[in-house]
Amino acid sequence: MKEHRIALIPGDGIGTEVVPAACRVLDAVAARHGIALAYDTFDWSCERYLAEGAMMPADGLDLIRGHDAILLGAVGYPGVPDHVSLWGLLIPIRRGFQQYVNLRPIRVFEGVPSPLREARPGDVDFVVVRENVEGEYGEIGGRLYRGLPEETAVQEAVFTRKGVTRVVDHAFELAAGRSGRLTSATKSNGIVHTMPFWDELVAERGALHPGVTWDQEHIDALAAKFVLDPGRFDVVVASNLFGDILSDLAAAIAGSIGIAPAANLNPERDFPSMFEPVHGSAPDIAGRGMANPLGAIWSAAMMLDHLGHPEAAGAVTDAIGTLLSTTRLRTPDLGGTATTAEFTAGLIDLL
Ligand code: NAD
Ligand code: IPM
Ligand code: MN
Repeated sequence: MKEHRIALIPGDGIGTEVVPAACRVLDAVAARHGIALAYDTFDWSCERYLAEGAMMPADGLDLIRGHDAILLGAVGYPGVPDHVSLWGLLIPIRRGFQQYVNLRPIRVFEGVPSPLREARPGDVDFVVVRENVEGEYGEIGGRLYRGLPEETAVQEAVFTRKGVTRVVDHAFELAAGRSGRLTSATKSNGIVHTMPFWDELVAERGALHPGVTWDQEHIDALAAKFVLDPGRFDVVVASNLFGDILSDLAAAIAGSIGIAPAANLNPERDFPSMFEPVHGSAPDIAGRGMANPLGAIWSAAMMLDHLGHPEAAGAVTDAIGTLLSTTRLRTPDLGGTATTAEFTAGLIDLL
């Protein structure tokens, strides 16, 4: 049996609560499906930054380059500026390992009412495909004239033909394997110069995928349509920033940001891919054992799928569905009183 080596980076805040929960689920499902998992845990975090002056060691990427996958909790905590923690850990991994596809599925589950009256279980089941290494998160820019009345912040958005084409192709292929419908999130009224370029490339790649019908929506109108008619979407491809915003909105539509998973994929498999919940470190609830672990657990299921175990991955997502539809166990974000540990144990019972 091939052993999969997983790099665990719990990170900050509730990351340190939901990653162990995901590991308990992984261990349970691995035992039942004859999968061998071995973990190496890395304490890279804001706490490490405060003690040692860096979020991770200088050779951090080399320490995890050889792993089969990375499972991450969340990065960022009050006491360390976000630009320091994020540029010091999360972003270097996504970029260094060319994880240019960020896959963020969402579903409205039976038993978890959406805040939207019209969003019923089964109707809402779509994926945001987020460009994950360039776009609005460009590295060119900075702050000028700090502290002066002229103080200015500039940042260049960088969209490359290669970068856009590869994520758009991934989205078209994903759509071809689902319902054959793709929506491109854009802002092409000519105001944002990069977006007509994005649109041209989507049209170019669309012509090569005749089995997929696609359209493009302005991001502002699209945000409204997510709320008014979320059931009409299947695969939504978006730039780095637009995809970030749409994925939190999608998670809220499904009832809680605590549910939503993400896979930061390097499709060529030259480097390890990274799996992490969409949410952050949630300092407001950290340390109280009340975080919803489902986003991390669903992310771990996506990891199993990526490692070649779709049946084990399906067992986990099925158990999530059963837990929510047949029991009243809920963490507080879903209106219940269960702790992270109780919720996780309830899920494991169903595996
Ligand atoms: P957040 O996602 O941490 O929290 C937003 C709200 O959602 C909070 O009220 C929180 O309590 C709630 N929430 C989030 N996850 C939950 C869960 N699993 N169960 C129950 N409730 C949950 O976003 P934020 O407050 O904007 O950011 C906090 C910190 O996390 C910042 O430092 C930010 O930069 C960082 N962050 C990191 C990542 C990442 O590592 N990928 C993602 C988002 C935010
Ligand atoms: C996410 C987060 C990050 C992002 C932040 C913390 C940099 O919001 O993973 O969604 O925008 O990529
Ligand atoms: Mn986000």
